[in-house]
Amino acid sequence: MEYEKMSHFPTDFLWGASSAAYQIEGAYREDGKGLSVWDKFVRIPGKTFKGTNGDVAVDHYHRFEEDVALMKEQGLKAYRFSIAWTRIFPEGKGQVNQKGIDFYNRLIDELIANQIEPVVTLYHWDLPQALQDEYGGWESREIVTDFTNYAKTCFDAFGDRVNYWVSLNEQNVFISHGYQMESHPPAVNDEKRMYAANHIANLANASAIKTFHDGHYQGGIGPSFAYSPGYAVNGDPKNQVAATNYEDYAAHFWMDVYVYGRYPKMIYKWLTERGTAPVITEADQALLIAGKPDFMGLNYYQTQTIAANPLVGGVGLAAENNTGKKGTSSESGVPGMFKTTNNEFLKQTDWDWNIDPEGLRIALRRIDSRYDLPVLITENGLGAYDKLEEDHQIHDDYRIYFINEHIKAIKEAISDGVKVIGYTTWSFTDLLSWSNGYQKRYGFVYVDRDEESAKELKRYKKDSFYWYQKVIQENGRYL
Ligand code: NOJ
Repeated sequence: MEYEKMSHFPTDFLWGASSAAYQIEGAYREDGKGLSVWDKFVRIPGKTFKGTNGDVAVDHYHRFEEDVALMKEQGLKAYRFSIAWTRIFPEGKGQVNQKGIDFYNRLIDELIANQIEPVVTLYHWDLPQALQDEYGGWESREIVTDFTNYAKTCFDAFGDRVNYWVSLNEQNVFISHGYQMESHPPAVNDEKRMYAANHIANLANASAIKTFHDGHYQGGIGPSFAYSPGYAVNGDPKNQVAATNYEDYAAHFWMDVYVYGRYPKMIYKWLTERGTAPVITEADQALLIAGKPDFMGLNYYQTQTIAANPLVGGVGLAAENNTGKKGTSSESGVPGMFKTTNNEFLKQTDWDWNIDPEGLRIALRRIDSRYDLPVLITENGLGAYDKLEEDHQIHDDYRIYFINEHIKAIKEAISDGVKVIGYTTWSFTDLLSWSNGYQKRYGFVYVDRDEESAKELKRYKKDSFYWYQKVIQENGRYL
C-alpha cells in the first residue's frame, strides 16, 4: 500500500462493520457451547437495562447467511466479528467442541465466498465461566496458558483464511469495568486486584501474539484499544500537566505495554506508592517485549477534556464512561492526577458521549507518531434511539452525519501520513449493548425487537445502510 502524502483512501482499504459474539449470536446453550461470565452476569438483578440478556440476542447464530447477504448487498469489504471462546472450549480448556469450530468455518467461508475479508477478534469479553470459577479468570496466571491454547486452536483452524486477528478487545474497558466500576463481571472494586489482572491480561495478549508469529501464520494480529484522546481544558499549565497525566494513565499505560513492553514510569511509580503495582518478573518483561503487535486496533468513540484535580476524595479510573448509564463522567479521574470535564465545543450523543470527529484524526496521529504501527479502526459509530417508521424505513441522518465526519477525519489522517488499514464501524446490525440492553442502537441494519415482533427479529435497512454502500462504491472519494 502506498501511504505517503496520500489524500485519498487506498484501493485495498477495508471498509467494514463490526460485531461481537455475545452481542449478536444468541444460541447461548446450543451445539455444546459452555457458559460465559456474561451468561451468568446478566442474570444478576439490576445489572442490565430491564434485565436484558444475550440468550437470543439478534439470533445471528441461526441467521448468519441472511446477515452476510446483507453485508454483500452493502458492499462491505471486511466484517469484524468475535469468536465465543465457550463455543470452541466450553470449559475454557480441554476438549475442543467441533461444533463450535464448524460454526465459525461456515461463517468464514460464507464471508469469503462473498468477497468479504474476515477480521476475527479472539476475546470480546465472554470469558468462560468455568475459568472464572476454577481460578478467578484474569486474576490467575493460568489464563495465559489457556488463552494461548485457545488462540492457537483458532489460528490452526481458521488461519488459512483469516488475515486480520484482534487479540483482546478493549482490555482497558473490561479490566476497569470488571475490577473497579463493578459494571462488568466479575464486578469487584479492588484496585490492587485490578492492576494485577490487567498485567496478566497483558501477558496473555503478548503470549497469543508471540504464538501467532512463531507459528508463521498468514496475516497480522493486534489488540483493539479503546482510546479517547485527552485535551487540556485550557492553556493553564496545571491543566496541561493533568492532560499529560491522563494520556499516560488512560492510553500509554496500555499501548506502551503492547508495543514496547513497558509501563509509563510515572504511573508505575504512582502505583508502587499506593501498593497496587503489579509484580513484573524478568520472564514477564521478556514475554511482553516478544509479543509486539503488527497493527494497533483502534476503537474510537470520543475524546476527554482534562483539568487538574486536587488531591482529595476517592479514586476513579473512568477513562471512558462506557457503563451504559446515562450521565456524564465529568467528575471522574484520579485525584492529584487529572479529572475529566465538559468541553464547550462538543455536542453529545443520547448517552452523553462527546461527538468529536477531529479527535479521531488526533488519535490516529498520536498512535502513529508514538508507535509507528499501521492502524485498523476496529470500532467507531453512534449509539442512538432509532425509530422504525410504519413503512419500515429508518431515517438515521444523525448517524450518517456522524460517520461522514469521522471518515473525513480519517482521510485527513491518511493525508497526514498515517497508515490506516481499514474502518470497521460499530456495528453492522443492531445488537445487545451490554448493560444498555437493546435500546441503544448502532447498526446499519435495524433489528426489530418490539415486544410483539421480537420473535421474528426482522432486519430492516436504515438510510445509513444505503449511504455507506455509496461511500464504499466510491472508495470515500466524494466526502
Ligand atoms: C466497545 C465495545 O467493544 C463494544 O462491545 C460496545 O458495544 C461498543 N464499544 C459500544 O459501547
